[in-house]
Amino acid sequence: MRVVEESICCSNTKVFIGRGIVREILEKEINGNVLIVRQDAVDPKYVISTLKTKPHEIVLPGGDQIKDINIVMQIIQLLSEKGFQRRDYIIALGGGALTDVAGFAASIYMRGIRLINIPTTILGMVDAALGGKNAVNFHGIKNIIGSFYQPHIVISDLIYLDTLPRKEFIGGLAEVIKYGATLDYELFKYLSSNSTRILDRDYEAIEYIVYRSTINKLSIVKHDPYELKNVRIVLNYGHTVGHAIEAVTGFAVPHGMAIAVGMVCEAIIGEGIGITEKGVVDILVNILKMYGLPTSLRELNIRVEQEVLLNAMLKDKKRHGDYIYLPIPTSLGSWTPYKISINEMRSAIEKCLG
Ligand SMILES: NC(=O)c1ccc[n+]([C@@H]2O[C@H](COP(=O)([O-])OP(=O)(O)OC[C@H]3O[C@@H](n4cnc5c(N)ncnc54)[C@H](O)[C@@H]3O)[C@@H](O)[C@H]2O)c1
Repeated sequence: MRVVEESICCSNTKVFIGRGIVREILEKEINGNVLIVRQDAVDPKYVISTLKTKPHEIVLPGGDQIKDINIVMQIIQLLSEKGFQRRDYIIALGGGALTDVAGFAASIYMRGIRLINIPTTILGMVDAALGGKNAVNFHGIKNIIGSFYQPHIVISDLIYLDTLPRKEFIGGLAEVIKYGATLDYELFKYLSSNSTRILDRDYEAIEYIVYRSTINKLSIVKHDPYELKNVRIVLNYGHTVGHAIEAVTGFAVPHGMAIAVGMVCEAIIGEGIGITEKGVVDILVNILKMYGLPTSLRELNIRVEQEVLLNAMLKDKKRHGDYIYLPIPTSLGSWTPYKISINEMRSAIEKCLG
C-alpha cells in the first residue's frame, strides 16, 4: 500500500492506494455514524462488513444526471433526519459524478461533515476524488453550483477496478497521460513502456500510476487550492478543446476521448506559437494511440463547424475577457500558462482540428 499525505489550505488529506485495503483503513478511521452514498454498480460489501454499526445508505445510478441539487437535498434530508453531527461520516463510494455530489452535500451540511472518498473509477482515483472540488450541474450548466472542501481521507482501492468497463478504464487513463505530459516525465516514460501491463490491469503497474497521479494532483492543488492563481489550470490541459467537443456533441463523446483530442490540439497550438518543443505532438499522438485513445475529430467520427466549437470554447472558465489562459506543454513533463486571444485561438483550432 502507498500513502500520500498533503496539507492543503486548512486541512490534512491522506490518500491510501492499494488493493484490498478498504477494511484496514476504515477499521482504524471510523468512529461515528456513517452514511454511504454509493453507486449502484459498485458492491458495498467491503465497506459494510467493516463497520461496527449498520450504516445508512443512498444508492445512485451512473451518469452525470446525479449531479443534481435535488440529490444533494436528499442526502441532507437523511443526514438531518438521522441526527448526523459534524464528526460523523459520509462515505462516497463511486465514480467522479458521485464523489462530486456527495462531496458537495458533505461540505454544506453543518458547514462540513467528515468525508471519506472511495473512488471506484480510474478518473475518480487520479482526479475527481482528490483536490476538494465538488459540484452539481444546474439548468444544463456543468459544475455551476459547488464548493471547495477537502475529503478527510481518500481510499483508492484497486479492487473496485475489477468491474469497471473497459471504455471507462481507458477514458480515465487519458487524465494520467495528461499528468505525464505536463508535470511528470518519469510517469510519461513509464506509461510509454508499460501500456500492455496497464491495459491488462496489472495492479502493480496501476498502483504506481495512480500513486504518481495523486502526488501530481495534490502538489498542484496545494499551491492553488481555490484556483485563484494560474497554477491549477494545468490540471485542465486538453480540457478547453475537450469540453467544447463534449458540449457541441451533447456529451455523446466520453470525457476521456474528448480530452485526448484536446491534448493533441492544444499541443499543436503550442508548437504553432513556438512554445512546445518540436516532436512533442508526435510522441503524444503515439502514446494516446497506444492506449486506444483518439487523437483527432476524424477518429471520433464527428464533424463540427469550427465556429461552433470556438463558441463553445468561449464558455471556458479559464476565459478572461478576450483571452483564454491555456496550459501548454513546453517539453514532455513541463508546461507554461499561455494567454491566447480569441482571434489567435480561431486560427489555431483551424490547424489542429481542420
Ligand atoms: N471534482 C473534480 O475535481 C473532478 C475532476 C474530474 C472530473 N470530475 C467529474 O467526474 C465525473 C466523471 O467521473 P467518472 O469518469 O468517474 O464517471 P462516472 O462517475 O459518471 O462513472 C462512470 C460510469 O462507471 C460506473 N462505475 C463507477 N464505478 C464502477 C465500478 N467500479 N464498476 C463498474 N461500474 C462503475 C458508473 O455507474 C457510471 O456509469 C464528471 O461529472 C466530472 O465533472 C470531477
